[in-house]
Amino acid sequence: MRIVLVGPPGAGKGTQAAYLAENLSIPHISTGDLFRANISQGTPLGRQAKEFMDAGELVPDEVTIGMAKDRLEQPDAGNGCLLDGFPRNLTQAKALDQILEEKGIGLDAVLDLEVPEEEVVKRIAGRRTCRNNSAHTFHVEYKPPKAEGVCDECGGELYQREDDSEETVRKRLEVYHEQTEPIIDYYKTQGLVVTIPALGKVAEVTQRAMEALRQQAA
Ligand code: AP5
Repeated sequence: MRIVLVGPPGAGKGTQAAYLAENLSIPHISTGDLFRANISQGTPLGRQAKEFMDAGELVPDEVTIGMAKDRLEQPDAGNGCLLDGFPRNLTQAKALDQILEEKGIGLDAVLDLEVPEEEVVKRIAGRRTCRNNSAHTFHVEYKPPKAEGVCDECGGELYQREDDSEETVRKRLEVYHEQTEPIIDYYKTQGLVVTIPALGKVAEVTQRAMEALRQQAA
């Protein structure tokens, strides 16, 4: 299956993507994680992305689309993928259509995680992220690590993302409403959107998502 995951910052996209990708045996491709890996490795792409991420703005399309295309060319994405955080505006959505069209394939579903804004703020405020791998995320209240400040998965140091400050989160939410939400309507016209409430325990949301994807595929 080829799935796009959408939802506001802090909706739980990364958290759900880890479980869904495992259940569906497809790779989880997160442009946010790819940018953060480039930043921690000090690559030119990482240096370019950092100033936009720290400001809560989108990284320019020409950088993002090229990076996503390269990742989609890798062999593990040949039989499907779960895209998290890409596409994030209409230009990227159209570019993705073209990338897939060239391969003679298309998307199967766009899973839209619906979460009230006050919950998003709580989730982001308590999130802790692993310095070694930003796909390893925890929450001080909802998903505490076994040892404070230490990643359960790899022993890495847990920290609060620079773009998780209140001011930057407000900007990210604004960008989400202005630039990312329009892609939901774009995909609705293609009959691809399944919207689920993403409140409740992580496992309950995963179950809801799996059921919605099964129905979409039927
Ligand atoms: P990105 O990393 O994609 O951030 P985001 O979309 O803002 O999403 P988040 O990672 O903040 O949240 P999430 O929905 O994954 O939630 P999580 O699972 O962690 O992008 C960051 C930046 O990179 C962008 O601002 C932009 O600059 C740049 N960028 C990335 N892609 C781009 C693109 N395509 N184009 C241009 N720029 C791009 O969960 C949050 C917290 O809640 C965690 O602590 C978790 O433990 C907890 N939680 C999760 N589910 C539950 C639950 N059910 N109950 C209780 N707590 C929960």
